Amino acid sequence: MTSEVGTQYAARAHEYVDHLGSMSSVHPADEHLVASWAAAVGGPVLDAGCGPGHWSGHLAARSVPVRGLDQVPAFVEHAHRTHPGVSFDLGDVDALPYEPDAFSGVLAWYSLIHHDPSSIRSPLREFARVLRPGGGLLVGFFTGSTVEPFGHAITTAWRWAPDPLADELRASGFDVLETHTRTGSASGPRPHGAILARLA
Ligand SMILES: C[S@@+](CC[C@H](N)C(=O)[O-])C[C@H]1O[C@@H](n2cnc3c(N)ncnc32)[C@H](O)[C@@H]1O
Repeated sequence: MTSEVGTQYAARAHEYVDHLGSMSSVHPADEHLVASWAAAVGGPVLDAGCGPGHWSGHLAARSVPVRGLDQVPAFVEHAHRTHPGVSFDLGDVDALPYEPDAFSGVLAWYSLIHHDPSSIRSPLREFARVLRPGGGLLVGFFTGSTVEPFGHAITTAWRWAPDPLADELRASGFDVLETHTRTGSASGPRPHGAILARLA
């Protein structure tokens, strides 16, 4: 694990686990969206950039075959300990350690937020490679009226207007099915977006 993003997450992994490492920090609408999507795609599902592994654990408890992957060893170790019945791998979303057609669904929940626009197609093409034809992709992201970087607590992240991100998905081989957005508040969470897509 050598990337700057990975180094920054590793330095604050315990803090991240404490604040955001369980389903209690997830908005109910997001839980509903992800759980219904995962049930519809069946399995196996890859939780790409799983962090502490709470989404993987949540989906596995709902009988969705799932495995998680993250670049940060402390997250993968925590995920193994906390969800012993689920498989977690150390790896990079830009070079996934899986065979083509290995998954029916890929969940990328806030795991692409640190990819800048010039590099976003790298993980998207990897998702297309490991998905079966017709497989599903669900991306959660910070949204806004434009594409721009901002000072995220861990390291620089990007907010995306939904249309340009949908264009990146299409350019990477996906049909875009649905786009969801939720406004934020000055003191609360930032505006949120989710895109559901299917491998063409
Ligand atoms: C904002 S956190 C989201 C974690 C989790 N999906 C969640 O919903 O809490 C971003 C995660 O993506 C992971 N990540 C970012 N870039 C990655 C890469 N190139 N390969 C693997 N994981 C990556 C980080 O290590 C981190 O765990």
